[in-house]
Amino acid sequence: MSPGAPAYYLTTPIYYVNDSPHIGHAYTSLACDVLARFMRLDGHRVHFLTGTDEHGQKVEKAAAAAGRPPKEFVDEVSQRFRALAQTMGYSNDDFIRTTEPRHIEACQQLWQAIKANGHIYLGKYAGWYSVRDEAFYAEDELKPGPGGQKIAPSGAPAEWVEEPSYFFDLSKWQDKLLRFYDENPDFIAPESRRNEVLSFVKGGLQDLSVSRTSFKWGVPVPDDPAHIMYVWLDALTNYITAAGYPDTASETYRSFWPADLHMVGKDIVRFHAVYWPAFLMAAGVAPPKRVFAHGWWTNEGQKISKSLGNVIDPVALVERYGLDQVRYFLLREVPFGNDGDFSHGAMMRRMNAELANDYGNLVQRVLSMINKNCAARMPTPGAYAPADEGLISASERLLPAMRDAMARQQFHVALERHGEVVGAANRYVDEQAPWGLKKTDPKRMETVLYVLAEIIRRLAVLSQPFMPESSAKILDQLGVASNARDFARAFAEGAGLTPGSALPAPTGVFPRFVDPAA
Ligand code: MSP
Repeated sequence: MSPGAPAYYLTTPIYYVNDSPHIGHAYTSLACDVLARFMRLDGHRVHFLTGTDEHGQKVEKAAAAAGRPPKEFVDEVSQRFRALAQTMGYSNDDFIRTTEPRHIEACQQLWQAIKANGHIYLGKYAGWYSVRDEAFYAEDELKPGPGGQKIAPSGAPAEWVEEPSYFFDLSKWQDKLLRFYDENPDFIAPESRRNEVLSFVKGGLQDLSVSRTSFKWGVPVPDDPAHIMYVWLDALTNYITAAGYPDTASETYRSFWPADLHMVGKDIVRFHAVYWPAFLMAAGVAPPKRVFAHGWWTNEGQKISKSLGNVIDPVALVERYGLDQVRYFLLREVPFGNDGDFSHGAMMRRMNAELANDYGNLVQRVLSMINKNCAARMPTPGAYAPADEGLISASERLLPAMRDAMARQQFHVALERHGEVVGAANRYVDEQAPWGLKKTDPKRMETVLYVLAEIIRRLAVLSQPFMPESSAKILDQLGVASNARDFARAFAEGAGLTPGSALPAPTGVFPRFVDPAA
């Protein structure tokens, strides 16, 4: 990658280490991974960050419940998230832990910058706090629950807290935030989340408590270590820590900050789209360019929760169905941004219909015909007929169509467009019936098979971000060199397969899934 290539910095939320990773965590990171791979193949210098959120009362309590010192506990649970990243094939460039010295330094520097600009003052917090959400709530946001409890909109219980606390003057940021959203219409997506944030901010903002004194597990406030920083201020800072903050003159920081995209779940949009830009502006640091909030998964129609015992383990899914199959399903099944329901039935349907029958069968029948009828060599095309031109130009339009969908994080649209070209290629096979041409018009048969191999090359180049292993297998079988698989080379004028080149024996790429329980 040339140093002059445009930079692209994207992040996942950092995951709480109170628990083992589940499908929700896998999903956010998967979306980022696919985008990171797409942008790399599309000529960007990508920095893809993920990591773990290790401080705060929730993690401290989880460590205590496990009977372990917090540091020992977070070391172990953080490792599980690293292992998940490996199992899922994530291509992250960095993995940040908020207990690392580089991060503690960045948090304290950011605090000092905000304070030096006059936006932090000492006071006393008396109000509601939910440890599960690590969030403060106003009285009118809570509903009564069993036993006189107060319940937050997320369903988590809130407790009354009274303690000395530093405050951030969020109430003064309403107009500046509204102006920022107005000037940056793409800052929050999708539209529904943008509207939600706008109405929250228009409703008026209250100063935010940004330190706690009733427990210890966190980053000490500079010059007043009886206070530890509010875990969300600490956690959000990870995004600039990893860009090199406070070394704002560094090459990394200058290339990658402000981040191009923070990918988050819909539950944490307020922290990212309201608090975070306000903290940054208060410190004199540029806010990120975009926050995309995706929806939540349910499991066979039910909310996923530990107490219901229906948590979906992404590793078990991958073992059962295959990595690329899971990656494909999660991003194809649900319009990105909406909520979605996981079911084994839907998983099997998509994997059998769209991967095995459509994409897989296209690849397999074309490669086997070439193997059998062209002596395992890439056929030599003659002049193209209009049907050939039609299919080739549909595949040419696919790159810009997918690029456009990816720029809007519409992963399902990118895959839908890809599937349309697969469908058009399968129809072309049926119409041209190359198997019947061997005796009647062998030159035409070669042209048809060449056109198909060429379409498959393009389809496989473009499916790499979603299904890296399977796409590589297809490209290997076509004899495409590994340095000719990025979009610029693969779609350059004159790029194509080499007639006459020897091909390996074809092997299936997308197996049909037979349900052992059926
Ligand atoms: N630690 C904070 C984030 C700090 S970022 C500066 C946090 N962590 S989390 O582990 O609870 O959640 C991480 C992500 O997982 C969130 O984006 C959340 O939306 C996502 N999911 C958790 N459960 C989910 C589903 N059931 N479905 C889809 N995503 C969900 O929040």
